[in-house]
Amino acid sequence: MTVKGIEKLCVVGAGKMGHQIAVCAALGGYSVTCTDTVPEMLREAEEFADTWLDSRVAKGKIAEAVANEARANLTFTSSLEKAASDADMVIEAIFEKLDLKRELFATLDSMCPTRAILATNSSYIVGSQIADATRRPDRVINMHFFNPALVMKLVEVVKGPEVSDETADTVMAVSRSLGKVPVLLAKEIYGFLINRLLDALNQEALYLHDMGVATYEDIDLAVVNALGHPMGPFRLMDLTGIDLSYLVRMELYRKTGDTRDKPSPTIVEKYTRGEWGERVGKGFYEYSKEK
Ligand code: 3HC
Repeated sequence: MTVKGIEKLCVVGAGKMGHQIAVCAALGGYSVTCTDTVPEMLREAEEFADTWLDSRVAKGKIAEAVANEARANLTFTSSLEKAASDADMVIEAIFEKLDLKRELFATLDSMCPTRAILATNSSYIVGSQIADATRRPDRVINMHFFNPALVMKLVEVVKGPEVSDETADTVMAVSRSLGKVPVLLAKEIYGFLINRLLDALNQEALYLHDMGVATYEDIDLAVVNALGHPMGPFRLMDLTGIDLSYLVRMELYRKTGDTRDKPSPTIVEKYTRGEWGERVGKGFYEYSKEK
């Protein structure tokens, strides 16, 4: 069931997080408009929605009527104004660049109804760094989904210093209405919960690899078979994007100036070569388009 007062959702950014969040919200019964400036991204997002919903029906995971309703709830447009002007809530899932997000949120602030909540799916940029670009800092909040967003249950909701209780409660309730398990962070912290925990594992895995202690395949094998993780750290970095691992570390290094926070030599090498993971067909592992 949808949350009272939230009917229309706008998802900005049709990339791998944005398009899955949009489908997830459409399945949750919300009227969703997904927007992106790149027509190719929108086309791929629309294709994904059709293929994924069809495959869920074929697998017997959802009824055909549910898939049809979700598809009817979902619109794709390159016009931000069309997507945002009557939204009750926006979920931003664009590139991880602070200046881009600030600019977008300032525009959204001028386009959206004053009651609308503006949420960011950023992996590490805290809401208060964006909120002052708007006139509604009490309604700018982190709502962080995990990849793949249609599968992973967790949503981190981060309550920045100016976020109202009402905003946090609404975002927690919307997350639950999507079948997610939200956790509330009472304070902003770089990397939130999961990326901080993951980073500790990834850094150690990269250290062991760079020291020549074991291959990345064997480190993945060890983590899967000893810790029961669904995939090892290198396979997971391929899934979430080595470009993201690089950017997160560079941002941390810029903040702290501590050379220990720099991305590992392996990550720098992969980033420079454009081997960013599954999305581009090669990271630590190679991926065929079909897979
Ligand atoms: N998109 C949508 N659905 C997907 C999917 C994808 N990319 N990949 C798999 N699925 C679905 C499948 O359809 C299948 O659904 P079903 O069981 O209901 O039919 C289910 O997931 C299992 O898929 P598979 O059997 O093909 O493969 P696995 O069992 O290996 O599961 C996985 C794949 C769900 C990705 C699993 O390996 C996993 O959970 N990996 C860990 C993912 C993880 O840790 N994510 C968090 C990353 S951190 C992050 O996102 C932070 C951010 O800031 C970057």
